[in-house]
Amino acid sequence: MQLLPCWSHRGLLGALTIALYSSVCYALPSSLSDPLTHGYDRVGRADAPLTGYLGAFFLGADPYVYFYLSNGNNATSLTALNKGQPVIRPTKGTKGVRDPAIVQGGGAEAGKKWYIVGTDLNIGSTTWDAAQRTGSRGIFVWESTDLVTWANERLVTVEDATAGMVWAPEAIWDPTKGQYMVFWASKFYSASDTRHTGSPTNTRIRYAYTTDFRTFSSPQTYINKSPTDIIDLTILPYPPSTPDSFLRFMKDETAKTVFVESSTTGLFGTWTRQGGASAVIEKGVEGPAAYVDNLDPGKVRLLLDFYGGDGYRPYESKSPAVNGQGSGGWTASGRGGWPSGLRHGSVLPINQAVVDALKKRWG
Ligand SMILES: *[C@@H]1O[C@H](CO)[C@@H](O)[C@H](O)[C@H]1NC(C)=O
Repeated sequence: MQLLPCWSHRGLLGALTIALYSSVCYALPSSLSDPLTHGYDRVGRADAPLTGYLGAFFLGADPYVYFYLSNGNNATSLTALNKGQPVIRPTKGTKGVRDPAIVQGGGAEAGKKWYIVGTDLNIGSTTWDAAQRTGSRGIFVWESTDLVTWANERLVTVEDATAGMVWAPEAIWDPTKGQYMVFWASKFYSASDTRHTGSPTNTRIRYAYTTDFRTFSSPQTYINKSPTDIIDLTILPYPPSTPDSFLRFMKDETAKTVFVESSTTGLFGTWTRQGGASAVIEKGVEGPAAYVDNLDPGKVRLLLDFYGGDGYRPYESKSPAVNGQGSGGWTASGRGGWPSGLRHGSVLPINQAVVDALKKRWG
């Protein structure tokens, strides 16, 4: 039984709710009654049971947003929607988007609003060097009220003029702050080097807060492991029913590895890298995307992008704060139902109403 996670850390209201729902607690997120999250759990999941997964990715040579839907409630079996054609094509900036991340609405927007944010980069029309010196300092944003129709494209500058680029933006609702925390990777040039021809700083993770993905607070540094370059941060609230507990996966862009850190003291608490400073989950990968299994809330799914090879491959773990593979760590999942060529994106657990609506519109 998985009852414990449902009512741990809950107050009197939760205890009363358990009395009512105890027999189905596993299927219904405990926070259906949580006044802080307006009926949605920390991951923004509502209307249980969750019966599928929506994936948003870009493909190798194609910097657009592609949607994939799980085959049934199978976390490692996906089918392309829209006959394999993009669901979103940017019209602004470089007209190319990489690293699409689906952001769950939080607070009053929980279950009512979703955003997709992504990197403004069409590498086919630039070089990797130019993209990191004078690349876009904005993030693409689209929004939806149903996960099916995406509108209100915008390209919003989030970074200072000294930044060389803004890569792989993602966002998470921060209930402590009551705002979305948006984060991305940048490196910086000296203020006098206005053309960014000199030597930059290392690449670090930056963040800003927003309530509407239109206006952002001044960016600040979130993770700086100087001299190591860090990119591709993703944060997963985990376990879902434990406030202040998070996993964060990121790429060491110097060593070309992906590793995980965990916190039980909030987004700005103490983060621990199990196994030490050189412990990693996998080498030669980037763009981690993490999601909780719909059928087993004790299992975390992790996609790792073999950028020099066939793109995303799925991994799984019941001890997701562990760096390393094999017993007690991560294992590669079967890829019999896994499409090749998916690049850095994100996966969202969804309910049957969304599954049906996505199939109707994009199937
Ligand atoms: C998910 O799909 C894969 C590929 O078709 C299959 O091998 C696997 O058994 C499925 N898992 C479940 C739980 O049905």
